[in-house]
Amino acid sequence: MPDDGPTPLTGRRLLVGVTGGIAAYKAALLVRLLVGDGADVHVVLSRGARAFVGPTTFEGLTGNAVRSEAWEDVPDATHVELGRTADAVVVYPATAHTLAKLAHGFADDLLTTTALAATGPLVLAPAMHAEMWEHPATRANVDVLVARGADVVGPATGPLMGGDRGVGRVVEPETVRDHLVTLLAPGADRTPAAVPGPLSDVRLLVTAGGTREALDPVRFLGNRSSGRMGFAVAEAAAERGADVVLIAAPTDLPTPAGVRRVDVVSARDLDAAVRAHEGAVDAVVMAAAVADFRPEDTLPTKWRRTDGPPTVRLVANPDVLAGVVERRGAAPRPVVVGFAAQTGDLEAAAAAKLADKGVDLLVANDVAAAGIGFESAENAVLVLHRDGARRDVPRAAKRLVADVVVDELHTALRRTAGAQDGTGA
Ligand code: CTP
Repeated sequence: MPDDGPTPLTGRRLLVGVTGGIAAYKAALLVRLLVGDGADVHVVLSRGARAFVGPTTFEGLTGNAVRSEAWEDVPDATHVELGRTADAVVVYPATAHTLAKLAHGFADDLLTTTALAATGPLVLAPAMHAEMWEHPATRANVDVLVARGADVVGPATGPLMGGDRGVGRVVEPETVRDHLVTLLAPGADRTPAAVPGPLSDVRLLVTAGGTREALDPVRFLGNRSSGRMGFAVAEAAAERGADVVLIAAPTDLPTPAGVRRVDVVSARDLDAAVRAHEGAVDAVVMAAAVADFRPEDTLPTKWRRTDGPPTVRLVANPDVLAGVVERRGAAPRPVVVGFAAQTGDLEAAAAAKLADKGVDLLVANDVAAAGIGFESAENAVLVLHRDGARRDVPRAAKRLVADVVVDELHTALRRTAGAQDGTGA
């Protein structure tokens, strides 16, 4: 019986896989919470998990037998039965090794065979050392699992095994329980933004599109930016759970799901909107093509042909990006991402611009290259980090390029996390 009346977990059949990390002891607390909600919980321990916890605790908590190997109940085909009938499979904690096995469909123990037979949602709570979490192999495995629809909850930042601190700590049992409640609620929205993702504690400000500087009521100075790159970044971040405000210069693009949009027209409007939001965010991504100059005067009435060719004097607009960097000063947040549209030697120009602008991350693209960049659905970029790390993204759909940019931003945010809370974590 549930402790406090029915919840979306009452009567649900949940499979909790426990794998071999020090956080395995916390799985007992998770199981206790789920049983308290009235769920029928079945626990499967990996071989590694048995080095940390034993089956007796889980059998006592759930009233169900705890198994590890696929061959323990061959006639009953336990793995198929458990997988098919589970309303959700949760792996808590999920080690790097188990993530790798799940990503590639390995089935060498009861947990992985069951996961292959399962048809319901798969929830993974990774736990490992920061270096392992950040390793490209783990990043790639997580990307594969997320692309296949798995929900990755965490990891959190905090103390790790062996006295270290950093990202890689398993999220608290309550977080996973709350996630399951959202996931299994009747009529639950299964769009990615509705459930916590790896960026669920990140607030992001993205600017996109080309600003317009009015000459008269019907004419403006503009540029060829379509806004697609910035919109794709906003969408990719929101899908990973970030809280995203998108400041959009004029464009017909639809607002990505889960994103809050603020429409602006000119560089000065954009500057004001950025100032209004920058203090409340962890990162600012400046993908907008901001006009460097505007007409000194905007005519109140339409300039007519019979008035003859006008002479337009231009004055400088604020450098919005420079303003964000300047106001941030020595503080670690917001992390600032600049975009640079370059021609000529991309690498040299990008490195110079990174230093010049004082940004944490610079995304440079060669606007002279055929078929990419402005007004195109594709792009190819070079991402440079302040500490010298770099990533080349060959020509691909802007949405895929945006995924990589968001990955790199996630890395930059993790790097500054220690400076942020002053603990070195
Ligand atoms: N940017 C800005 N405000 C401006 C101009 C540009 O915030 N008035 C930001 C853009 O959003 C982008 C980066 O600066 O992130 C673009 O830099 P770049 O295209 O190189 O433009 P400039 O800084 O103007 O450099 P240059 O004129 O030397 O090419």
